[in-house]
Amino acid sequence: MKKIAVVGTGYVGLVTGVCLSDIGHHVTCVDIDERKVEKMKQGISPIYEPGLDELMKRNIERGRLHFTTSHEEAFRDAEVIYIAVGTPQKEDGSADLRFVEQAARDIGAHIERDGVVIATKSTVPVGTNEKIRAWIQQHLQRPVRFDIVSNPEFLREGSAIYDMFHGDRIVIGAGNERAAAVIEEVNKPFGIPIFKTDIYSAEMIKYASNAFLATRISFINEIANICEKVGANVEDVAYGMGLDTRIGPQFLRAGIGYGGSCFPKDTKALVQIAGDVDHQFELLEAVIKVNNKQQLKLVEKARSRFGSLRGKRVALLGLAFKPNTDDMRQAASIVIARELLQDGASVAAYDPVATENAKRIIGDEVVYASSVEEALTDADLAMIVTEWEEIKQLPLDLYAKYMKTPIVFDGRNCYPLEEVKKHAIEYHSIGRQSVL
Ligand code: UGA
Repeated sequence: MKKIAVVGTGYVGLVTGVCLSDIGHHVTCVDIDERKVEKMKQGISPIYEPGLDELMKRNIERGRLHFTTSHEEAFRDAEVIYIAVGTPQKEDGSADLRFVEQAARDIGAHIERDGVVIATKSTVPVGTNEKIRAWIQQHLQRPVRFDIVSNPEFLREGSAIYDMFHGDRIVIGAGNERAAAVIEEVNKPFGIPIFKTDIYSAEMIKYASNAFLATRISFINEIANICEKVGANVEDVAYGMGLDTRIGPQFLRAGIGYGGSCFPKDTKALVQIAGDVDHQFELLEAVIKVNNKQQLKLVEKARSRFGSLRGKRVALLGLAFKPNTDDMRQAASIVIARELLQDGASVAAYDPVATENAKRIIGDEVVYASSVEEALTDADLAMIVTEWEEIKQLPLDLYAKYMKTPIVFDGRNCYPLEEVKKHAIEYHSIGRQSVL
């Protein structure tokens, strides 16, 4: 078992560190935020991720998981160091490598052990790992032999722990066999297939995978938009397509587009990466454009249903960019709420966990309800933005019971049309016929 340090305790770093300690490694997670580190030492996760708190507590008790603000303490003796800091988006769409560079400098300043392997988990443009090598080299305080590996993550928020233990593949991009073998050994207990390649290809696999998944979503959303007009049902179309093993059923759920911290950022970054080598990635540009339009689909539908939304009371159900997370980054709810307010509507929103984060981003013009019932009370229309299990399980009678007029715009196709037809509600969804 290895001595591992993880830089950055966002959801990638923290989940990686916690799971590596769970399979037996000795892990130290380092973060500059003292308050966050104090909490994590007590087993309290700064992010909402199902199962994470229990796993943290268990491994802290076992003495295999540590948290510190001291780079020296974390790096001095480490055999493997994971870089898992954020790579936010710059205004031009490219990835901001400030935090990666800082991590590399800190690593250079403190590593002492010969043969230490530095593995990058952060999503970084092709070629960045070579820069990381140079940054570390520049800051070495003594001659230390080290290797760089690209080891991209494929975790989904909300199922990150499951994905760590049951992922489809682990990609290791290395410049030499020894470094690849070290990371392979670290990951062996997970029992997940390992694919080894060069550093540049590993970096590209991450972007290409996210871009491809985003493409599938925009593709099915465009099909949905056509389905509505020709009288087809996108749920059946996606199912029928997915039966073809060459296509497969995943990521063909039509809705109001993709959000989150990854797809929007990584698709733009890949367009930028292509542009940097004089290639216009037209397909991906269209994927992004389609997604931006799709996020406003419910507002568009409501506008054409009501003529004007001025003075209407709208219940927004779900705020997070997807269920099982409190993450609001690039959530469709943000643009929807802003657009509704601009139209002169009032908004009462409910989310089981993302409300605090939503307040910070959307602001206090929206009323934040503490239950679905409260949000629905006296509403002229409801919009389902996030398919939380709690929302999918709502008895359909509830809409008629609490709303002024039970008119529902469902952006995530939560209910089967046959079920809706049994209730006295007006129902508009994505890629399916409306129930009037
Ligand atoms: C995504 C990838 O799925 C992970 O493999 C990757 O590691 C991660 O980005 C990352 O780069 O860190 P995540 O953003 O957590 O994970 O969430 P997804 O479950 O992929 O969903 C992304 C968005 O697509 C959500 O807004 C979701 O509602 C939407 N989506 C997903 C659809 O609209 N339709 C689908 O069929 C699937």
